[in-house]
Amino acid sequence: MSGNIEAHGGKLINRIIEGKERDELQIKAEGLARVQLSTRETSDLELIAIGGFSPLQGFMCEEDYHSVMDTMTLKNGLPWTIPITLSTTKKKVDSLKVGEDVSLIGKAGNLLGVLHLEEIYKHDKEKEAEKVYGTKEEAHPGVKKVYEMGEFLLGGKISVLKRPVHDDFKDERLDPIETRAIFIEKGWKRIVGFQTRNPIHRAHEYLQKCALEAVDGLMIHPLVGETKSDDIPADIRMDCYKALMANYYPKDRTMLVVNPSAMRYAGPKEAVFHALLRKNYGCTHFIVGRDHAGVGDYYGTFDAHYIFDNFDPSAIGITPLFFDYTFFCKVCGSMASYKTCPHGSDDHISLSGTKVREMLRAGKTPPPEFSRPEVAKILVDAMKKKK
Ligand code: ADX
Repeated sequence: MSGNIEAHGGKLINRIIEGKERDELQIKAEGLARVQLSTRETSDLELIAIGGFSPLQGFMCEEDYHSVMDTMTLKNGLPWTIPITLSTTKKKVDSLKVGEDVSLIGKAGNLLGVLHLEEIYKHDKEKEAEKVYGTKEEAHPGVKKVYEMGEFLLGGKISVLKRPVHDDFKDERLDPIETRAIFIEKGWKRIVGFQTRNPIHRAHEYLQKCALEAVDGLMIHPLVGETKSDDIPADIRMDCYKALMANYYPKDRTMLVVNPSAMRYAGPKEAVFHALLRKNYGCTHFIVGRDHAGVGDYYGTFDAHYIFDNFDPSAIGITPLFFDYTFFCKVCGSMASYKTCPHGSDDHISLSGTKVREMLRAGKTPPPEFSRPEVAKILVDAMKKKK
């Protein structure tokens, strides 16, 4: 392969407008009806604009919305598993007209861009809960978000005038076009992407390094958009990633790039979505371990592997690398998985997220078989500060 892997749908989308067109739209936008975006919608807008969600050029219209839920494909047949929607209220809908432009406004009242409004349609919340998240229970954080959204959805292409402003992780905020250029510059042809919403523990490190044995480069791509309140905040996680990389990772084969999207906790559906997103960033391979993007007991441990069987691999276009449950084995004296270790679970050191949080809250340091000491120290210190 020369150059980068193709973006999903064949073309990396760019919906950021510049120059004269931008100046004209900016003036026009001042006089348009306005729709306020939520935190998630704002990060979705950014990802559409920079091509992270290629081939999407805007928020979904009704046919795509239902097609994604019913068949896990866009109406044109391309695999896609998560609705990317913009919601609003009945009251707001009464003031909007299909065919006209609408100004999209960020949390701080800032103008982000314009929606070229193609459709207004009903937000089918129960169907979305069931089809995307596999449950109608509001206890599921993704479902809760869907229920909190507006009753109507607005579909259409977007034109972004000013990207959401971020004052954090400046060095690691790279767009797909930039990561793609870096991969070429570094001469990496096979690149594995790693999704995470947690600090990187030994199990994660093991998956990454097993994968790296077989490819040219690793892009650690932590999600720093909206997560649920009991997940570890992104700034603390970023300190952990940097400490880990400085001490244990080869500098010339590893990159840290933030993923500005919001977490859905949709398990298998989100695993496919996460893979497609990394393909758009230029990765050729993507790690899917146990209970990827899961929460509570909503999904089977390996549902996020099985879901890929529903697709033609060439339509997905990025190679998922599936990993079994990994842990430290005292007898093997190393990290291992159920696939490679013949010993029993009594010999395994593996801690649940809840258990680790409990330990950290009690000021206890997780063992080195679970977490590198540099990472454990950052987490313990962060927990002390929080008290
Ligand atoms: S996620 O919500 O972003 O998937 P997390 O950050 O915990 O959660 O996981 C990142 C990736 O590592 C996912 O692919 C997940 O399946 C995998 N993973 C995490 N822990 C383990 C483990 N002990 N064994 C195998 N895979 C794991």
